[in-house]
Amino acid sequence: MNIRKTLKSLFRKQQSEESPYITPTYGGRWDTQPIDKKRIPEDSLMPRVAYRIVADEMNLEGNPALNMATFVTTWMEPEADELIKLGATKNLVDEDEYPQLKVIEDRIIQMEAELFNAPEDCDCIGVTTIGSSEAIMLALLAHKWRWRKRRQADGLDISRPNIIFGADVHTCWEKFARYFDVEMRVIPLQEDKYTIGADDVEPLLDENTIAVGVVVGTTFTGQVDDISGINQLLLNHKQKTGMDIPIHVDAASGGFVLPFYQPQFVWDFRLEQVRSINVSNHKFGLVYAGMGSVIFKDKSDLPMELPFEINYLGGSMYNYSLNFSKGSSILLAQYYMFLRLGKSGYRKIISAVMSNAQYLEQKLAESGFFEVLTDANYLPAVVIRLIDDSLFTAYHISDELSKNGWIVPAYSLPPSAEHVVVLRMVIKENFSRDLADKLLNDTLASIRHLQQNPPSNVKVADNISTENRQTTPHGPC
Ligand SMILES: Cc1ncc(COP(=O)(O)O)c(C=O)c1O
Repeated sequence: MNIRKTLKSLFRKQQSEESPYITPTYGGRWDTQPIDKKRIPEDSLMPRVAYRIVADEMNLEGNPALNMATFVTTWMEPEADELIKLGATKNLVDEDEYPQLKVIEDRIIQMEAELFNAPEDCDCIGVTTIGSSEAIMLALLAHKWRWRKRRQADGLDISRPNIIFGADVHTCWEKFARYFDVEMRVIPLQEDKYTIGADDVEPLLDENTIAVGVVVGTTFTGQVDDISGINQLLLNHKQKTGMDIPIHVDAASGGFVLPFYQPQFVWDFRLEQVRSINVSNHKFGLVYAGMGSVIFKDKSDLPMELPFEINYLGGSMYNYSLNFSKGSSILLAQYYMFLRLGKSGYRKIISAVMSNAQYLEQKLAESGFFEVLTDANYLPAVVIRLIDDSLFTAYHISDELSKNGWIVPAYSLPPSAEHVVVLRMVIKENFSRDLADKLLNDTLASIRHLQQNPPSNVKVADNISTENRQTTPHGPC
């Protein structure tokens, strides 16, 4: 081979490696060399190669469609996906540049206030947040400030605020107490009583109580605290002592279920002491992760020193948040869902989801292996406990199910019911009756397998199963 031929062939080789027209997505040099993991690589990649590397890494993850652990939406219509792309380019906080986003946000808040039966003579306000955790912190912060202002006006001590809630709350409540320096008065759970009521709250109330927290659809069992009873207790307390203690309802999961499935059930702004409610739009609002809301029954429930008031567009607008910049994708997706489904659409979907949850619950109970902890009447979450865990535990069943791709968390309940270990399956819109049958069959097959191959030491295996322990409700939700 002469020198010209050699150079030509070298040039062709190099061209085929570098040219975007010839280089295949796979089979280039990037597939035989490791990717930099600790520094931004020096060299560039072609867009589709970079895309594949990232997308392929995602193949190592669980399948969202089989993720029974999360309450968060894992499927939306293609039209919503289009709006999500559109919203990604607009920072929600840029109200000067994108005033219509603020208008949409306000519409969403008013629609939710109406859904939660706000009385007509109330001037509700609220904001959308990144999720229920931020929403809860904003609500409780407002209650702390109201309590402090009242006490300061009367020349009373403001150094020891406290908040009362059950051990059935999500971890974000404890986060609030720790971050914002408020004493937690936590009501422990008991075996067979996984929610709180007026009798639990009464002995803990005092002049430093900023609020009582209740949950509509607890993370652990999907049950509902006795909100009416607690409301009555606080009304009596107000009459007796003059102390006006607000209730904050954590409706992260139940806020879009109860209004459509149990509209007669009274838990919301119909109750006098309920002054604020949060909801996770990314749960049964049926949008992807990244949105919650907090709604105050009346402007007077939010001390005006907290939000930043913006006066333009001929009216007042408020900015009340813990963070600043965020995309507007999910806000637009939620607005789309409200318009697209309407209340009748939500009713249909929630009824279908509840029906599939009840079906699965009934079949698991009939199998004779499980005790059902909840009746899926408030939330489409199936929470079960093994009747006999002498040979294997719920953690082992969770491990077995994961071999078929199912993500079903096993976890112990909060104190003082920590000896109760449960499995939780959250039923969502994209979980069909067929999938319910498949999950049921796979659960029973797991049990047969464990009966025939019992783990050598239940206690040890139980402790080893740390991966599943991490998938407690605090993790994936
Ligand atoms: C009852 C309850 N409250 C609050 C949260 C926290 O919500 P988010 O994940 O939207 O911050 C959750 C999450 O699962 C929850 O179940």
